[in-house]
Amino acid sequence: MNIKKIYLTNFRNYSSLELKLNNGVNIFLGENGAGKTNILEALSLASVTVSYRTRTDSDLIKWENDSAEIRVEYERYGVTSEIKLILHKRGRKEIFVNSNKSSAKEIVGNLTTVVFSPEDLMLVKGAPSLRRSFIDREISQASPFYMDNLMRYNKVLKERNSLLKQLKEGGSRELLDIYDMQLARYAAFVAAKRIEAVGRLDKIAKAIGVEISSNKESFGLQYSLSGVENISEEYYLKKLKEMRERDIMRGSTGVGPHLDDLIFTINENELKKYGSQGQQRTAVLGMKLSEVIFLKEEKDEYPLLLLDDVLSELDEYRRNALVKYLKNENITTVLTATDDSYIPKDMGRIYTVGNGEVSSKETL
Ligand SMILES: Nc1ncnc2c1ncn2[C@@H]1O[C@H](COP(=O)(O)OP(=O)(O)O)[C@@H](O)[C@H]1O
Ligand SMILES: [Mg+2]
Repeated sequence: MNIKKIYLTNFRNYSSLELKLNNGVNIFLGENGAGKTNILEALSLASVTVSYRTRTDSDLIKWENDSAEIRVEYERYGVTSEIKLILHKRGRKEIFVNSNKSSAKEIVGNLTTVVFSPEDLMLVKGAPSLRRSFIDREISQASPFYMDNLMRYNKVLKERNSLLKQLKEGGSRELLDIYDMQLARYAAFVAAKRIEAVGRLDKIAKAIGVEISSNKESFGLQYSLSGVENISEEYYLKKLKEMRERDIMRGSTGVGPHLDDLIFTINENELKKYGSQGQQRTAVLGMKLSEVIFLKEEKDEYPLLLLDDVLSELDEYRRNALVKYLKNENITTVLTATDDSYIPKDMGRIYTVGNGEVSSKETL
């Protein structure tokens, strides 16, 4: 995967930006607040249509404007295509591929990306929802069918939860029977896909860990089901029925993959409990690189890697291991940093970001 050009109009702090990127590593330098992350965010939006920083499109539109445009020209399997997003202050975003109207479902998986930002360092210790979105983002890019089922699952879950709240006051439970059947079907699919992906990531991570950890630790990943013994559709349906009175009391659904979690391991022990801060960082780096390899296996091409301010967060050993890996595998990368002190010489093309503008020098 290579990115050729980015065009931004009224996106975040950019009024109008046209930027040519290179294969290999692209380095964006600039002070805090200059607009570096905004560029990664735009690329990620072109990939998965939603931002990893906000759920609200209007946050992305330059203040005092009503719409924003992101256009990204990328090359995949040697063919150049363009994804265009038009964001509106009010109303849904519009999505185009090569000027043809398209949808999130159709484009996710075209321009694949893996983002690694300082917030990801919370992946091991933070809330389970972070780990679920990590795995969902990854599988969705490999399989549009998964994304579709996940979206349906979430929609039925939301509808079921609001029905539960109504039923607390009484009323017919016929609709609940229908929701339960739908939910059980999507739940079984989502859980099965996640378990399969986690199994593969676990294998990849164990191999990668050896390259990036100084002590040759073995990092892994396990899927943790919440309150169920198996993941068949029939079983989920049975559980939903069993939990029904409790669910109505609480107004929420107490069983399903929306409650599952991932467990990071080090030498087969739970990392959250036993790992040092440094080991947790290595594990996250390892997991991100495993995601890169996973998507390469799925798509035959490396995804675009977006590294936001992470070089300064890694110690020298891990930083060098990462840089060596990117170079050896020739993974197109866009990375940001506040200065070049952590950037090895000859790493790639340097861009300077400031005042809503970007300029580029020759390679360091
Ligand atoms: N919707 C918006 N309209 C205009 N400017 C914005 C908007 N959202 C964020 N900004 C500006 O973007 C800058 C932050 O950009 P960011 O890419 O996060 O910086 P950094 O270089 O530190 O990564 C801030 O100056 C902020 O004021
Ligand atoms: Mg930033």
